[in-house]
Amino acid sequence: MSVISGTDSTARLLDGESLARRIRGEIAGEVAALSAAGITPGLGTILVGDDGPSARYVEMKHQDCAEVGIRSYHEHLPSRSSMEDVLGAVSRFNEDPSVHAYLVQLPLPPHLDESQVLYAMEPGKDVDGLHPVNLGRLVMGVEAPLPCTPAGIVALLAAYGVQVEGRNVVVIGRGITIGRPLALLLALRRPGCNAAVTVVHTGVPDLAGYVARADVVIAAAGSPGLVTKEMVKPGAAVVGAGISWEGRRIVSDVAEDVASVASWITPRLGGVGPMTRAMLLRNAVDAARRASHGPSSDAPSPPRSG
Ligand code: GUN
Repeated sequence: MSVISGTDSTARLLDGESLARRIRGEIAGEVAALSAAGITPGLGTILVGDDGPSARYVEMKHQDCAEVGIRSYHEHLPSRSSMEDVLGAVSRFNEDPSVHAYLVQLPLPPHLDESQVLYAMEPGKDVDGLHPVNLGRLVMGVEAPLPCTPAGIVALLAAYGVQVEGRNVVVIGRGITIGRPLALLLALRRPGCNAAVTVVHTGVPDLAGYVARADVVIAAAGSPGLVTKEMVKPGAAVVGAGISWEGRRIVSDVAEDVASVASWITPRLGGVGPMTRAMLLRNAVDAARRASHGPSSDAPSPPRSG
């Protein structure tokens, strides 16, 4: 069992890297079986502009695809692209039968309307689970591709046996890719969820007061070192899902000394990020499998009780 090094650190590591490696191994087996049956899963990415971190994330997604045998496709558009240009790329992936699933890397340059782009995607190919239909399914508690970072966090906590059900979980941040869907997911009546969830954000003055009562803290604010040792209840599990760049260094929302009071903590690198990418591969394979069963398989399953 890995423990954060340091004299007074006792937190065990939520090692997303090794868990994601294991999941990629399982997915590679599924991809091989699908390919042998004549369906090679295809994942597309659309990147608009030249933001360095976004380009690196997209590159890693393609590396993961190559590792597990998913065929990947990429459209890189210049930052000055119009809505028409971006919707054109979306439409090409919607129409291309070899692309079973795809994503538009967010954020888009500020002159582009993210919601309109997400709306234009074919819901069955939405590998991020961010199309309004898929987010609506999440709200309803019916089968849907789950947003990758929330799904990865829930899988990470479950794999390490962190108790979530019935516990007090505080999510910091309300962004569309992490905080908002994560709160919905954690509140569903399903294994590894079923929690008392509170979402806090920049509009909440007493952040520390909420964090102090949490059994599980998930920080997805993109604010370096936001969660400090003084805020965290001893024995809580703490997940850093928000990152920032200080020069070339990635900095977590969770201060490093939180490891001295938490029982479980994500490492600065190799926690949530690899799990997000593993869930992306999982969603891509599921989309390919659905497509191979014909159009009717995109219909929602009957509701699970929420
Ligand atoms: N940018 C940061 N995280 C994500 C994500 O999960 N999906 C997409 N499409 N863009 C992102």
